[in-house]
Amino acid sequence: MLQNLRKLQLTESQRDSMRRAGRFNAQLMDYLRPQIVAGISTGEIDRLVYDYTTKHKHQPATLGYLGYTKSCCTSVNDVICHGIPNDYVLKDGDIINVDITSIVDGWHADQSETYLVGSVSEEARAVTQCAFDAMHAAIAALQPGCTVSVIGDAVVAEAARYGFSVVKEYVGHGLGRRFHQYPNVPHFPDRKSRQDRILPGMCFTVEPMINVGTRLTKLDTRDNWTVTTRDGKLSAQFEHSVLMREDGPEILTQCDAGPRLGHRF
Ligand code: MF3
Ligand code: CO
Ligand code: CO
Repeated sequence: MLQNLRKLQLTESQRDSMRRAGRFNAQLMDYLRPQIVAGISTGEIDRLVYDYTTKHKHQPATLGYLGYTKSCCTSVNDVICHGIPNDYVLKDGDIINVDITSIVDGWHADQSETYLVGSVSEEARAVTQCAFDAMHAAIAALQPGCTVSVIGDAVVAEAARYGFSVVKEYVGHGLGRRFHQYPNVPHFPDRKSRQDRILPGMCFTVEPMINVGTRLTKLDTRDNWTVTTRDGKLSAQFEHSVLMREDGPEILTQCDAGPRLGHRF
């Protein structure tokens, strides 16, 4: 197993390639953020992502991925993840996660933010804050050589502080030349993640999905993508791409204008 993990350790120049991919993706997020307001449709958000990415001669990683036909995922309110952009128009009080992934010179970046549209309920604000805090608590817990399960431990502890639940069916992942690669990065500790280790030079995502009510999910069988909460209550998510260095974690997708550790929504 350690051998499998060793193969994932990137050289300094490969790490720079991942930094460039992360930097581009973060700039795209900075470009989108001010445009996520009441009145825009999720399909229009997708168009902005596609146009910006292709104008810069890069590729949206989701476009054509396993049959997915859009350039981002837009997950509104009770949608946990993989919401497909369409003609839904954002309205005051919604929360929406926009998940964007770019391929830059063959290397992947993957990040998401949840946005509050206009004035939202206290519950919507709280679940968004919880997902953000959980992601940052997990990143802060990372040390070279740590087990993958330190991420799950941190996320579960943060969710418990709020009385919210952690989604189990969808997880973070290794990242690099491939979009989704070894290791799986669950947001709760399990047997495998207690064994897998994060070595210097590995890249992966941290992307906790937090639900107000039940952790249980429902896949929309009409499109086979959209995942909602089984009880119809709200869900929020944040995601960063992370590089483990010899001296600790580096966030590859930090935005200039976006929320940072300690932000209050
Ligand atoms: N961006 C998602 C992730 O964080 C994956 C989306 S795959 C898609 O892993 F096909 F649904 F777009
Ligand atoms: Co993503
Ligand atoms: Co991801």
